[in-house]
This record gives sequence, structure tokens and C-alpha cells, in this order.
Amino acid sequence: MTLVVPLLAAFASAQSQPQLSKDNIDEVLEAMTLQEKATLAVGGRQSLVAGAAGGTQAIPRLGIPQTVLADGPAGLRIDPTRRGTDNTYYCTGFPVGTVMACTWNVELVEEMTKAMGNEVLEYGTDVILGPGMNLHRNPLCGRNFEYFSEDPVLSGKISSAFVRGIQSQGVGVSVKHFAFNDQEINRMENDAQIGVRAIRELYLKNFEIAVRESAPWTIMSSYNKVNGTYTQQSHDLLTTILRDEWGYEGIVMTDWGNKEGTVKAVQAGNDLMEPGNASETQRIVAAVQDGTLSEEDLNRNVRRILEYIVKTPRFNGYKYSGKPDLEAHAELVRKAAAEGMVLLKNGEHVLPFEQAPRIALFGLNAYKSIAGGTGSGNVNKPYVRHISEGLEAGGFQIDKTVANIYATYRDYQNAENAGASFLPGQALGGGATFGEGIVPEMAIRQEVVNNSVSRNDAAVIVIGRNAGEGDDRVLEADFELAQCERDLIANVCNAYHKAGKKVIVVLNVGGVIETASWKSQPDAILLAWTPGQEVGNSVADVLLGKSNPSGKLSMTFPQNYLDIPSSANFPYYKPQAQRNAGGGGFGGFGGFGQPAKIRNYDYTKYDEGLNVGYRYFNTKKVEVSYPFGFGLSYTTFQYGKPSVKVNGDGMVTVTVSVKNTGNVSGKEAVQVYISAPAGGLEKPACELKAFAKTGLLEPGQSQTLTMKIPAYDLASFNDSVSAWETAAGQYTVLVGASVEDIRGTVTFKQGKARSWKVTPALLPE
Ligand code: BGC
Repeated sequence: MTLVVPLLAAFASAQSQPQLSKDNIDEVLEAMTLQEKATLAVGGRQSLVAGAAGGTQAIPRLGIPQTVLADGPAGLRIDPTRRGTDNTYYCTGFPVGTVMACTWNVELVEEMTKAMGNEVLEYGTDVILGPGMNLHRNPLCGRNFEYFSEDPVLSGKISSAFVRGIQSQGVGVSVKHFAFNDQEINRMENDAQIGVRAIRELYLKNFEIAVRESAPWTIMSSYNKVNGTYTQQSHDLLTTILRDEWGYEGIVMTDWGNKEGTVKAVQAGNDLMEPGNASETQRIVAAVQDGTLSEEDLNRNVRRILEYIVKTPRFNGYKYSGKPDLEAHAELVRKAAAEGMVLLKNGEHVLPFEQAPRIALFGLNAYKSIAGGTGSGNVNKPYVRHISEGLEAGGFQIDKTVANIYATYRDYQNAENAGASFLPGQALGGGATFGEGIVPEMAIRQEVVNNSVSRNDAAVIVIGRNAGEGDDRVLEADFELAQCERDLIANVCNAYHKAGKKVIVVLNVGGVIETASWKSQPDAILLAWTPGQEVGNSVADVLLGKSNPSGKLSMTFPQNYLDIPSSANFPYYKPQAQRNAGGGGFGGFGGFGQPAKIRNYDYTKYDEGLNVGYRYFNTKKVEVSYPFGFGLSYTTFQYGKPSVKVNGDGMVTVTVSVKNTGNVSGKEAVQVYISAPAGGLEKPACELKAFAKTGLLEPGQSQTLTMKIPAYDLASFNDSVSAWETAAGQYTVLVGASVEDIRGTVTFKQGKARSWKVTPALLPE
């Protein structure tokens, strides 16, 4: 009897606590203690899914469960094996963000991310920490592979498709890193010093599109600062722009790092601190108690977190299977990858091979291929189908002598003993990852190449590069080819061409590399990117014509790194020429005479303003190696004459028909650039405003594509009055296969100028 009374009392008290539901969020908030509110505003160790990056904390007395947040943009990143069970939890390695953007196919991205979202759901997680969508400001950014494009419209539309695909499964995304995380050097502290116009038109435009078009559940503020303030503490960014202007209703969480200013983050509208620690919780409690933080601000954030929690599968008791259909997803990855691969060169239509040939396969990454990048963008995938394996499965006969040299080299320690016919090569920034470490590409002796010619019909050379979170790429032997790679391409091309045989270069790279100096040598170049775990099969499908590549570049391939305006301020190695000259450069820091990494670099000036990617190259007519939007196909497409209509609201509708005029079926990504009339703000020569991709067109088949551009999307940002503005007058629509390959133009008039005033925000200090 004495035992029963306290139990009953406890039961009664539990009953009197409101238990969280969709309909009683205010009541639950009311019932929360200050400590509980602070607990919810700060992440904590989650114990539900091994290997997930973080979560929100449980408050059992109010029926609030933990929720689980896990990386990342190319597939779910959780531990694949767990103690005490034979079950495995591998996740599909999808094509990286850059490959998704190069498909220019929003439906396909949505289909892929539905499959990705299904894995999030079926492995018991609530939010995937992606898409990553910082702009490709400079090709050396170590995380560009996770991101989409140098263009905000392409980036924004692809992200929206990503978000819709994931969220269609009843789980959430975290759109990241908001914002200006365009480099990894000193990413925690770097101050991005940017003019407001470039902020609005470039670095925030893609996020704006994603927020307006897809309502992400969560957004991740970045580590860095913008114009002097940490983004996670910027009220201008997280409230004035994100919520008041764009109407965002989800939660904002920090990237995975604790800054001292937790209270400022709460005030700014950063709802959740990740991964969270006890001192952050205590800072919040103390600040409310001493009056420096209004409880109203905290309540506002906590309410939003509760609104998020009630949407999660965890809260709704979803019984996840732990068994998503990995085979079906792999099949999807294999097919989809070809839509993001870009055929850069196809001299004399050497590709596709009519039948699988005998080939000498060169390059370490041919045998150990790269499916995706490193860091939080990595996925614990069940396997990687290497290019050698894919080609072999496709019927290619791979030269054993050459393959054995690479196999021997892989056993790095024993290489000398094995007497392999190679010279140690130059270390690469990327290189093949064998087992644990990165193995540098190796030089192959000329006689090995020469001897292989008679045994083979053709040669395939794979050039690999990888990168990831925490560091940027370097210029030498990374953006540029290493000497041993240059020699390999030259030697193989010379030897095979002498015998009338062809050479194909496959680029298994995560980011832009220099191509201008060597691209004339091979017969064909396939930019395969890092297209997911089926990399080998996808490459084989393309080389054999089972898949017709239809990817187009989502960024420019410049002639030289120094042609890129942001190279003047991107904090990394100085190019050799400048180092030798001993010049300043690179923002005043330099590796005078030495390839020194620049550390303690605490700001980056975005002096180039709008001169990013094609906006610069096309406007200033600077020659590039491959322009934005470029990509070949095994078939040809003819564009009809475009037509345009404008309605009373200024909505522009562009229509164009596209016909497959070649011999095989294929898809074509059509791009709509707009050139604005003089009289308004000075603008780039033209800007991408819409795009669409045809379905698979059979030879002779046509499709009419219709693309809509609201008047607001034509506007540029006038920072002197803090308003988006369009000029009245005659606009030119340029419909192109790339920014340099315009197939038709048509003009329209906007009878009046328009303006959308916004609150001044993020002004430079
Ligand atoms: C990365 C994020 C990632 C997080 C959790 C951070 O270091 O910048 O992109 O989602 O870690 O793993």
C-alpha cells in the first residue's frame, strides 16, 4: 500500500503534463521550464542511430522524443555496421551535387533524392544534412563537389528539386551552408567581405530560390562570418532576409561548431545549436535569468523546434524497416550518373565504341575509382564499382600487363621488390585512395606504353582528383595536371596515334581542373565526375553508348586559373610564376618563393563582385577552355525559332522546340539567357534565367519546351536604394545549348520599370 501511493502520484502528475502533439505546441511551450527550453535549443548526443552527426534532445515528461540529423548531400552517412548485430546499414552513394546540377534535369534530381530520402526514412533518421549549395566562386574550394554551380538559378532550381525529393518521403533536409562558405581555408573564422549586390544576386539568390520554391524543414547556418558577423549570429541574414523577406518558416541550426556567442545566435534567429554542449545550454539559461536574453526570443525559437519535431517520423512513431531497396537505388544511380557526365570532346565520333574493344587502361583511379568526396560529404556505401570492373563487365578486355603494374603499385611497399616497370611519380593533391592513404599517381615508362600498343585497340586514361571538407584544393598537381600525368597523356597519345589507334581520357574528378594545355591530344574526353558508387558501370555504359551522356557544365572550365577573377583573393598557394616573381598578391599574403599554405587568413575579399563564372568570361569575352552550359552528345539537336510572350504581371514565357536530328536517342538541356536593356543597372552581358531538359528523344522526334520567368527574376539589386529593380525596355532572350552556343534569339518589351524594396541588410562594415 505504501508503495502504491507514490506511484499513483507520479502517474497522476505525468498525466497532467501536456504531451506534445501537433495541436498543443503552445501548451507544451507554456509547460516547459527555462532549463528545458534551453535544452531543446541546443543539440546533444543522440543515441538512436549510430554514426548520425547529431540530433535534438528528448524531454520525456512532455512527450518530446530525440530526433536524428545525419549527413549528407550525396546520400545518408551513418555507421554501416553495429555492435551486437549482423545487420548492415550501408547507404547508396549517389552522384555528388555537382553531377546532379550537370544533369540540368530537375525531375531526375527529384527522383534520385526520393530514393535518398527513402533511405533516410528507412534507417530511422529524421533529417539529412544536405543539399550543400554554396556557389562555385572558385574551383579550388575543397567542397565544390558537394555544391551545384557557379550560377544561382541553376543551383537554386536543382536544390529545390533535391529538397522536394527528400521531403516527399516525410523526412527533412538541411539546406547548407547559409551562407558564403565558399572556401574551406579557415572556414570557422573567415570573414567573407562582400558587396551587397553580389550578396543578393549571387550568394543568396540560390538559397532564396530554394526557400521560396521548396520550403526546407531546416537550414544550416555556416561557420564563417559575413561582413564582420558570424552568419549564425546575423539577425540580418537569419531573420530580416530569411524569414521576414523570404517567408521561411522552418528552423535554422548551426553548422557543427560551438561559437561563444550562443545568446547572440538565439537572438539572431538561429534556433538550434549543433552538435551542442552543456555550456551553450547554460549560457542561454543564465542570459534569460540576468535579462540579457528575452525569454520571448527563446520561446520563438523553441516553438519552431517543436513545430519541426511534430513533423518527424520519429515523433510520429514510424516503424522503419532498416531495409531500403539498395539494389533499385544502385540501378537508378547507374542510369542517372550518365545524365550528369559531360562529354567534353569526341573527335571523329570515336565514342561510343561500336563494340567493347581491347584497351590499355592507364591511371590509378581506373582501378580504384572515386565515387564521391571525403568528409561529411562521404557516404558509407556498400561498394564502389571501379572503372576497371565496369569496363570489364561491359565486355572490354583490359590489358593485363598494364593492369598488373597498377596492381603492383597498389602494394606500395612491395613495389620495388616486384620489379614493376614504373618510376615513382609526383604526389598529387587528389590521387587514388588505396586503403587508408592517398597514393600519388605514378609515372609509367615509355616502353610500357609502347609495348602495349600492339596488344590493344585503344587506350583509356583515367585522371582522378578528390577533395573534401576542411581544406581547399591546390593549384599545382591538383587543379593543374602533375608532370607524370602530362607525360602519360602525351606518351600514350603519341604511341597510339602512330598506330592509328584512339585514346580516351576519363576525368574521375570532383571539381574543375585545367584542360586547355592538353585537351588537343586525346581523341575524346569524358568528364565522368565522381558520379556515385556505380562509377565503373556508368562509365562503361557511356563509352559503349548504352547511355548517351547529356550532362552540361554547371560551371566554366577556364583556360588558366589566373583568368578567374576571384583567384586574386582566394587564399591559397600562389602560382609558381608569381612566387618566383616574389610579388604580393593573394590579398597581401604570399608564399614568397615557397609553396606555403596560407594559414591564419581571417578574411576574404570578394572584390570581383558579380564577375563570377560566365558572368565574367562571357561579358568580358575572355576565352575559356569549356564554357558554362557546354556538353556534347552522341546525337545532334536542332532548335526551332524561340517565341516569347509577356503577360500583364511581366511574367515572361519562352517556348522553343528541339528536334533530335542525329541517329541515336538522346536528351538535350536547353538554356534561356536574358540580356537586359540599357538604362537600368549595369549587368552581365546575359544571365541564365530558366532552363529545361527534353525527355529521351528518338531520332527525328521533337519536343516543345516552355519556360516561365516571373518579372521579379529579371531584377537586379540596386544597393543604393536597397531594392530589386527591372528596367523598362527591350530584353533579348537567348536560347542556347551553352552560354556560347546561342541557337536562337527573340526580344520582348517590358512596358514599365518595376521595383521591390527590401530592408537594407548585411551592409559591409
Ligand atoms: C560540416 C557540415 C556537416 C556537419 C555534420 C560540419 O563540419 O561542415 O556540412 O553537415 O559537419 O557532420
